[in-house]
This record gives sequence, C-alpha cells and structure tokens, in this order.
Amino acid sequence: MDSVKSPATRTPLIAGNWKMNLDHLQSIAFVQKLAWSLKDASHDFADVEVAIFPPFTDLRSVQTLVSADKLELAYGGQDLSAADSGAYTGEISGQFLSKLDCVYVIIGHSERRTMHNETDEVVAAKVAAALKHGLVPVICVGETAEDLERFGPSAVPVSQLKAALAGVPSDANIVVAYEPVWAIGSGQAATPDQAEAVCAALRTVIAESLSDDTAAATRILYGGSVKSGNIAGFMREPNVDGALVGGASLDIDEFSAIVRYKKHVGV
Ligand code: PGA
Repeated sequence: MDSVKSPATRTPLIAGNWKMNLDHLQSIAFVQKLAWSLKDASHDFADVEVAIFPPFTDLRSVQTLVSADKLELAYGGQDLSAADSGAYTGEISGQFLSKLDCVYVIIGHSERRTMHNETDEVVAAKVAAALKHGLVPVICVGETAEDLERFGPSAVPVSQLKAALAGVPSDANIVVAYEPVWAIGSGQAATPDQAEAVCAALRTVIAESLSDDTAAATRILYGGSVKSGNIAGFMREPNVDGALVGGASLDIDEFSAIVRYKKHVGV
C-alpha cells in the first residue's frame, strides 16, 4: 500500500447517533445549544468534523436551523430503504434524505442488524442505495461477545465489511464504524489497542475490496461507550479517525467535550 496517506490527511469525524431520542422540538433546542457550546469554545470544524444523526422526524427542523444559522454541523439519517420509492410502508428513501441536505446515513447499526434482522445482503443493498442518492454511508460493523470468544477480534467485522463493500465503486466516499456490540451502551468500551487492531484490519479490507487510495482516504470510526474521558486514547491510534457516539451524544457538555478532545487532553 505505497499510496497510503498519513492519518493526518483524514479529517477526524465525531458523530452523534441519537437513536430514538429527542423529538423535533427538542432537536431544535439541542442543536442550538450544541452550536453555542462549540462556538464558545471556538471549535474549528475544518479540524474536527461534527455530524449528528437525529430521528427522521427531526431532520427537517435540523435542516432549517443549520441552513438559517449557517451552522457547520453535518447531519444524516439513522437508516434508509434499499428501494428508491414505491409500496414500502414506513420506509424512507435515500432521495428524501438527500433533499434534506443530509450528508451521511448510518447503515447496518447492530441494533438494526439484531432487532430488524438486517443481513449482510440488506446492508450491501442499503450502501448501494445511499451512494446512488449521493449520501455517504456510515457502514457499521462489529462482533458480539460470543463472536469475540468464538472467532477472535476481527473475523466478524472483516466479513461484514467485505459483504457491505461488494459492488461498491473503487473510489466511493464512505465512512466505516467499528462498533463491538459488547461495547455499545454497556459502559465497557474496547481498549484503544483493541480498536486499533480491528480498524487496521478494516482498512486492509477497504484496500483489497476498493483501492489503496480509498483505504487511505476513508475515515474509520470507533463506537461503543465513547466518553470525554476515553476519546483521546482512541484518537491517538493511527487507524482510528473518529467516533460514533451514542449515549454521550445526548449530553451537550459531554458531546462538546468529546468533539474538543484535542483541547482538553492535548492529543
Ligand atoms: P454508545 O452507543 O456510545 O451509547 O455505546 C454507540 C452506538 O450505538 O453507536
């Protein structure tokens, strides 16, 4: 991989996955306060990118606020349909997300894989749909505690990512999130070493499935019980380019502190 860029060329991304929290009125107050908090701290969005993933019903309100106040905050959906339009009651097309100026869409979160039976094939179809509609898929992969015991640390995330990238153009703009299922919402984060080992293996998958240049350019996030107290350890790792934050993204001070990890811990 002689063309691999140094990690310094990848803009870190701190992403907040709100899951099923905050209605559209709450989302407006939250985004205003988050924007003030980051502005007060003179946060440089070109240095560390910030994205939020509110529920679908909040997105129009978030769009209105972000465009009216010219906020540098990116946002996206937590899922999308593999189909473009038609008789799919309850589904949301990538076209609808694009029209709301979403940049990103989370795909294959473990909660969707387990609670909504999303298979690797469904995830791959959704990745294709996202790219078709000009969205950057945030492709989530990760092993359960049982997988970890049976297959070791990287086997399941590597096979999930290979499946998700089947059919993806070699120069696609994607983000990958490594989220060990055992670390999500458990308060028991992976260690930075564990995260680095799997993220490095995932970067190799991108190089082999897409290209060396794409592997070098793609942000790979760690997710699972990220807090302001542990973010710096992950961000010191060369193959970890950011975080997908669940619970802590709902606390403005805490999320703002995670975003400003360079300031408060001196990475
Ligand atoms: P957590 O969730 O930060 O609450 O562990 C992460 C996620 O599910 O994306």
